[in-house]
Amino acid sequence: MARQDSHAKIAEHVQRLGEKHPPIPLDSVDRTIHDAEAVKARFGHTIDYLARVELEVDRNVLELLVLLPDVDDTNKTFYSDVWQPQEIQHGLILDRLQQDLGREPASPHMDVSFKIKILGALANLKPIQEVAKLMYFLTGASTERQAVLAYNQISAGLKEMGETAIAETIVNPIKQQEPGHFAFYNMSASAMVNDGVLKPWQLFLARVLRERSYGLVGTNGRTDHKAAMGRVAEDLGIDADLEGYAREIGRVEQRLLWAHRQGMPFPPYILRALRESVDLYRERGFGPATA
Ligand SMILES: [Fe+2]
Ligand SMILES: [Fe+2]
Repeated sequence: MARQDSHAKIAEHVQRLGEKHPPIPLDSVDRTIHDAEAVKARFGHTIDYLARVELEVDRNVLELLVLLPDVDDTNKTFYSDVWQPQEIQHGLILDRLQQDLGREPASPHMDVSFKIKILGALANLKPIQEVAKLMYFLTGASTERQAVLAYNQISAGLKEMGETAIAETIVNPIKQQEPGHFAFYNMSASAMVNDGVLKPWQLFLARVLRERSYGLVGTNGRTDHKAAMGRVAEDLGIDADLEGYAREIGRVEQRLLWAHRQGMPFPPYILRALRESVDLYRERGFGPATA
């Protein structure tokens, strides 16, 4: 019964998101920029990073299909009718913004990684697919939370700079769509754990895999993307309180996977990933691409 309740709640949430948040049309945007050089200096790199990440949504959909060959209707409706159509517009709008700022178009990374393919092959076994599904939801929750935080910072910064047109017609409308994505992943992951879908060994495996494979949004396991994320952390001031940020973006998995670890405020692998990105950027700039 509990399981049915949470399924119905999630399905309703997805339907509401679709109705309330149609994809943002490209021509709804006011591209007036007062001081392009100043915006570029402060947020150019971050906008570039986010444009790439948003445009990578099409790869994320391919990954989802590899990991969840038996994807159910609610998940299908979410990614095909709500999430992908919204995110791709975020990507196109941000990509045009950064070209308005005089920067190069984004180059999204579209290859499904070998690791995902291996996990996908194993996911034909139902118990493994359940683990993959939880991992997918946890990744979604953490990355969407990072998106919300980044757009909040950019929006506040642009308003401070008097760039109200792009703050109000680009960043704010995008920012309003991210919390609904976060809520979907949070509700879905929470339902799997709270409704007892997973056996103890599956939760154990999820913990091990999470520890070994956690990546910050858009890093794709690549050194150059990790370093680029380090620069985002500096530009947005995240580096001033990495632990506080780790707590924010790790809250869902802390609650669902690690609640038994007394005195651990966030999963240590999240702070490790943040430190690695910041150090990489400080030590070597963006560095060469290594997969
Ligand atoms: Fe987005
Ligand atoms: Fe999103």
